[in-house]
Amino acid sequence: MAGGAIVSTGAPKDYPAKLTFFVLFASVVAATGGLIVGYDIGISGGVTSMDSFLSKFFPSVYRKEKENQSTNQYCKFDSQVLQMFTSSLYLAALIASFFASSVTRMFGRKWSMFGGGITFLVGAALNGFAQDVLMLILGRILLGIGVGFAGQSVPIYLSEMAPARMRGMLNIGFQFMITIGILAANLINYGTSEIKGGWGWRISLGLAAVPASIITVGSLFLPDTPNSLIERGHADEATRMLRRIRGTHDVHEEYNDLVAASEVAKLVKHPWRNILKRKYRPQLIMTILIPFFQQLTGINVIMFYAPVLFKTIGFGGNASLMSAVIVGLVNVFATIVSIVTVDKLGRRKLFLQGGSQMLACQIIVGTLIAIKFGTSGEANPSKTYAAFVVFFICVYVAGFAWSWGPLASLVPSEIFPLEIRSAGQSINVSVNMLFTFIIAQAFLTMLCHMKFGLFYFFGGWVLIMTTFVAIFFPETKNVPIEEMILVWKAHWFWGRFIADEEIHIGGRIEMANGILKAGSK
Ligand code: BGC
Repeated sequence: MAGGAIVSTGAPKDYPAKLTFFVLFASVVAATGGLIVGYDIGISGGVTSMDSFLSKFFPSVYRKEKENQSTNQYCKFDSQVLQMFTSSLYLAALIASFFASSVTRMFGRKWSMFGGGITFLVGAALNGFAQDVLMLILGRILLGIGVGFAGQSVPIYLSEMAPARMRGMLNIGFQFMITIGILAANLINYGTSEIKGGWGWRISLGLAAVPASIITVGSLFLPDTPNSLIERGHADEATRMLRRIRGTHDVHEEYNDLVAASEVAKLVKHPWRNILKRKYRPQLIMTILIPFFQQLTGINVIMFYAPVLFKTIGFGGNASLMSAVIVGLVNVFATIVSIVTVDKLGRRKLFLQGGSQMLACQIIVGTLIAIKFGTSGEANPSKTYAAFVVFFICVYVAGFAWSWGPLASLVPSEIFPLEIRSAGQSINVSVNMLFTFIIAQAFLTMLCHMKFGLFYFFGGWVLIMTTFVAIFFPETKNVPIEEMILVWKAHWFWGRFIADEEIHIGGRIEMANGILKAGSK
């Protein structure tokens, strides 16, 4: 059982909720934020599997790859520098996301997005024109700073602009755009690898400038959010803005609530210290564990290194890139499944189903590779055999794309009370980046040492996280954010962290026969 019974008679606030042009425009900007993140994830694996790129920047890896086919397949791409090319971006994003949260708060969301876009543009240029590894890595670091700023400010911007009832859907829309970015990158890699003359990788890396230009220019035309304007003392402008984005004059109630929320937030002088209080323990643990678990599904092994992995199991360069495109397509379409079902089926069902599916596939893929490659890593599997592996990898990716993919950003964004929401969100982003970095840096080495066992390793983690969800994660669908505390209070385990008198949701609370009841004002 994952939670006690909850009866909530308090209706969520229902502000005017037209989807105006302004809000639509905001969604497009958020979309380009997702594209930037996704483009990075998808582009590096393809580029690092291109011979011309490898021979220019990583000649020792290139030589190892070209050596006699009978060498150990598991280890042929094992290189710390090659991994650093992929991972440096996430380390930079991790560090940048701390600074981004202050910029976003003090100067507004808009300038944070603009700064992210510009840095990203410079990074794309450095990469496209790179002459040596240093230029390459420097470019990646700048791209990472861009990702850190965009990843911090765009989702906040989006959820502040969105009418409350469309927030969940728009939130997954951001993840959806990440998957489109990954797919676009896979397709571009497929195209540029065909270019004779060995400069195709320059186009792959340089084209990152396209989504970067969209967000840079787009942000200049964006208004800042009413929340941010109020926070920075521009009350009149905030009223005007709220009327404009909601498409009505009748914004009095929402405006007052925003002012009240901002007052409460100002009272909390130390959100970082506050978040450590015992009563926030359930949410704090979730916001650390969820992004951690998401990365331990092993998804980025596929997203970053699919072409390299497919080469390892015996595909030629072209077939590897094509397979990565297929995986990218599955990722996009399976994400749509969660957009459509998340508010009906709920989060728990998707977590549990997706987790079981991923686990089954990891066991199958690990075993298929074990049968052919054993521990020596020497084999030449048939095309059909390799296609089987790719098929089960696709089923695994589908399981991820309708569970841990979107839910790992949706859930942390909906479980925190306002006063610590942004601190909680920063923790979520940083933990995600930290473990993305670790997986990117370690995967090729892990493959070399753990061999097929690597798939069982991630499978073991998926088993742990799925069990964790089954026991500790209460359903959060359709629960108004302001009443979320009741969900934790009613849970058999988390309830003990929250004292009855600590529940304030602006309404009458009753506790009778173990049933919590929230009444509206
Ligand atoms: C994750 C990324 C991952 C992507 C795959 C995102 O939710 O944070 O690390 O590459 O999903 O679609």
